[in-house]
Amino acid sequence: MENDRLAARASNLLSYIAVDYGDSVDDDRILDTDLYRLQQHHATQALELVRQLPDKPGRSALESSIGALQEAIGRRDDADAVRRRANEIADRLAALYQMQRSPTQSLPAANLAAPLFQQRCARCHGSWGQGGGAVPDLRDATRMASFSLYDLYNTLDPTVDTVHSNRVDGDLDSRQRWALAVTAAALAVKNQLPPSADLAERYPALVGLPGMAVTRPVELPTDARNALMWWRGHPHLVRSLEHPLARAEGLLLLAETDYRGGDNAGAYHKLMLAYREGYQPLQQSIELRDRVLYRQLQAQWKKLRREVISAAPNTDVIASIQNLRTLLARARARLEPMPGSSISYLWATLLFVLALALGLSLWWGLRWRKRSRL
Ligand code: HEC
Repeated sequence: MENDRLAARASNLLSYIAVDYGDSVDDDRILDTDLYRLQQHHATQALELVRQLPDKPGRSALESSIGALQEAIGRRDDADAVRRRANEIADRLAALYQMQRSPTQSLPAANLAAPLFQQRCARCHGSWGQGGGAVPDLRDATRMASFSLYDLYNTLDPTVDTVHSNRVDGDLDSRQRWALAVTAAALAVKNQLPPSADLAERYPALVGLPGMAVTRPVELPTDARNALMWWRGHPHLVRSLEHPLARAEGLLLLAETDYRGGDNAGAYHKLMLAYREGYQPLQQSIELRDRVLYRQLQAQWKKLRREVISAAPNTDVIASIQNLRTLLARARARLEPMPGSSISYLWATLLFVLALALGLSLWWGLRWRKRSRL
C-alpha cells in the first residue's frame, strides 16, 4: 500500500511539472522565478520518491529519465518538450509499479458530485469553477487538457497531494474522488456540443476505461483532444458509445495490472466483469458470425480463468490476457458490418426498383391493350 502512495505522489508531482512549467518559462526566459524553482523542486522530490520504491529492473532507467528531465528544466527547454517528457515518465512509472490509475466501475455523471462540489469546493473554486486569486480556473480548457482524469483524482487525495487540506477532502472515498474529478472535468466543456459519434469509432479506447481515465487530452490530435475533453465530462452519456468488447479489453488491461501487482482477487474480479459485461452480451453473435473464432475465445477465457485461480506465473497470465485481447479485437472487427455490404444493399434496392418498374409497365401495357380492344 505504501508503495502505491509513493508512486501516486511522484506521478502527482510530474503532472504539476507538465501543467505548470509552461507558465514559468517561455522562449528560454524565466517568466516567474518562484514557479520555476517550484518545478525544479518537484523534479527533485519525484526522484527521491522513486528512489524509495523497491528496486527492480527498469528503476534505474526511470531515475535517469527523471535526471534528464531535471537537465531539460535546467536548460529551460521549451514547454512542450518538458511536458511530454514529464508525462512519459509518469506513464513509465505507472507501468513499472503497476499503478491502478482507473476505477473499475464506470464513472458517474458529472451532476452526481455537483452538490458535493458546491458544499466543499465552491468557496474557493467558485460555483462554476471560475477560481480567482491563487485558485486556478477549472474552466480553462488549455490547462485542464494537460491533466488526465487520474491526475485530477490525485489532487483530491491529501495523502498524495497537499494542495487541499485534510479538512477539504480527507474523508472522501475513492468513488467520491472519481465523481469529483468528473465534475471538475465537466466545467471546462460546459454548454459545449458533443463530438460527432464517428469519433467514438475512430478512438474506441478513449470512450472506455482505462483510456478515458489515464489519457491526457493535450497529447492527442485536435479532434481526439476535444472529444476526450467532452467525453470525460459526460461519462454516463458515453457508455452507450463504448463497444462491449472494447469494455472487455479495457477491463482485461486492468486485470493485468492487478495480477502483475500481486492482487489476484482484484484480477479475478475484473476478469469476470470483462466476461459478463463485455463478452457475454455478444457471445451468440460471435458464434453466428465465426464459429472458429468463437471456439478459440471460449477456450481462451477458460484457460485464463484457470490460470488466475491457480495463481500461475505472471508471464503465463500476461500472455493469456494478451492473447485474449487479440481475439476480442478480431471479434470486434468480425462483428462490424461487412465492407461492401452497403454496396450490395444498393444493388438489391436498384434491382428491386427495376423489377417493380418492369412489373408496373407490363401491368399498364396489359390494361392499355384490354382497353383498346374494348
Ligand atoms: C481552501 C480552498 C480550496 C478548497 C476548499 C478546494 N480547493 Fe481545489 N485548489 C485550491 C487551490 C489554491 C488550488 C491550486 C493549487 C496550486 O496550483 O498550487 C487548487 C487546485 C485544485 C485542482 C487542480 C487544478 C489545477 O489547475 O491545478 C483541482 C482539480 C481542485 N482543486 C479541485 C477541488 C475540488 C473538487 C474541491 C472540493 C472537494 C476543492 N478543490 C476544494 C483551493 C481549494
